[in-house]
Amino acid sequence: MVFKCLHHSICKLGRSSNYSTKMAKLTIFPIMAVLMVTIVSYTSSLMPDILLEREETNEIQNNPMLSPGRIMVPGPLETEKVACQFDIVKREKISGKCEKLGAAPVSFLKWILRKTTKLCELQRICYGMPSGCSRSQAVEYSLNYSKSLEIKAMTSNLTTIANEGRFNGRNQRTILEKSVMIVLQVKKINPHIHRQFIISFTRCLEHIWGYQQLIHEVETLRLLQFDSSVEEHENKLTRLWTALQPDVPLESRISRQWTDIGFQGDDPKTDFRGMGLLGLDNLVFFAEEYTEAARHVLSHSQHPQFGYSFAIVGINITSMAYNLLKDGAAKTHVYNTCKSVPSMRIFHQFYCYLFYEFDRFWIESKPKNVMQFSYIRNEFENNIRDSLSNQSTVFNINFVVNTV
Ligand SMILES: *[C@@H]1O[C@H](CO)[C@@H](O)[C@H](O)[C@H]1NC(C)=O
Ligand SMILES: *[C@@H]1O[C@H](CO)[C@@H](O)[C@H](O)[C@H]1NC(C)=O
Ligand SMILES: *[C@@H]1O[C@H](CO)[C@@H](O)[C@H](O)[C@H]1NC(C)=O
Ligand SMILES: *[C@@H]1O[C@H](CO)[C@@H](O)[C@H](O)[C@H]1NC(C)=O
Repeated sequence: MVFKCLHHSICKLGRSSNYSTKMAKLTIFPIMAVLMVTIVSYTSSLMPDILLEREETNEIQNNPMLSPGRIMVPGPLETEKVACQFDIVKREKISGKCEKLGAAPVSFLKWILRKTTKLCELQRICYGMPSGCSRSQAVEYSLNYSKSLEIKAMTSNLTTIANEGRFNGRNQRTILEKSVMIVLQVKKINPHIHRQFIISFTRCLEHIWGYQQLIHEVETLRLLQFDSSVEEHENKLTRLWTALQPDVPLESRISRQWTDIGFQGDDPKTDFRGMGLLGLDNLVFFAEEYTEAARHVLSHSQHPQFGYSFAIVGINITSMAYNLLKDGAAKTHVYNTCKSVPSMRIFHQFYCYLFYEFDRFWIESKPKNVMQFSYIRNEFENNIRDSLSNQSTVFNINFVVNTV
């Protein structure tokens, strides 16, 4: 209808036949034609997409890789807070509001980009953004807001696996391959042409769900309480002492000497409390892997004027590292540092960096007394968070020890 009317009026213009209207006709026609083709192909592209989404639902049901069940489907618009539960088996919603799901059109901007660059959003991210935090965060964001049911099922499966600590070994490789396959299918990406995409995208998946799994591992260790009847736990305490005080033998397991390295009393086991074995493991790692740096920090903690309790502050820094990891702030450093799946080692190193830098910050602040700990600690944490909010931040763990 619209097209006919427009066409008619232009023809009328043509019939009135003078030079300027002829020129108008010559320029308007190609523009109109391009516009029409764009609109027609955009609207027609919506139809197959809707059908495709229904087919995808079927595929999920018949795909043994994806266990059928209930998945949470957030509203199609970011601002729309309502989410619905969708039963993939019965193919009906269980609760909430998800009428728009089947008919959610590709956003016009995404569609234009897809048509003009022939690449989907994930490809544009993997080809266009620098590896590390920028790329992995952008992929994470894009996957979070994907409308495809298959991709939603894939990400929720990956999250389950990471939260159960099963994202490792051969299992990890299989899961990664399957996930990449799903994305290639859904986004219709040719794997032979886009090898580089597969490599980069896999790295992003390793980052995102490796980090998720690391949170799980750290949490498990934190919830584990120090147990004197476990030989391994007792050994860790002895190792800590030996690494920090190699020239001073420990007289007995329960001893006043523990206060020399900053525990509160005769028996360190009561000092770990909220941080559990994570606090001890962090300290042992620091003392054994960066012995010089750890002894340097210990010597500062024994300073007559600016001294503090080394182990107690160390355990408090564990809680800082733990919180930064858990709320996602540490992603910047972790994604920029890791070449593949982040491991426990990266968390320990992150801790060592924090402890070493905190000590420096403390000494430079010239505190009047230990009562200022809370204030200085907060200042320090804010500085760290500031650095981490810059996507290119990497903390350099190779300490240079300047003897003061
Ligand atoms: C996740 O995928 C694995 C195979 O990669 C499958 O064995 C498992 O059942 C799936 N789990 C869920 C919760 O979808
Ligand atoms: C993606 O979703 C997960 C789980 O809801 C959330 O923890 C994470 O911060 C989100 N990531 C981004 C980049 O939005
Ligand atoms: C660490 O120190 C801060 C400031 O004093 C305190 O609020 C927090 O509870 C401490 N955390 C642990 C685990 O000791
Ligand atoms: C982020 O860090 C990089 C490298 O350290 C620096 O060049 C850049 O200016 C920083 N960006 C901001 C916004 O501070």
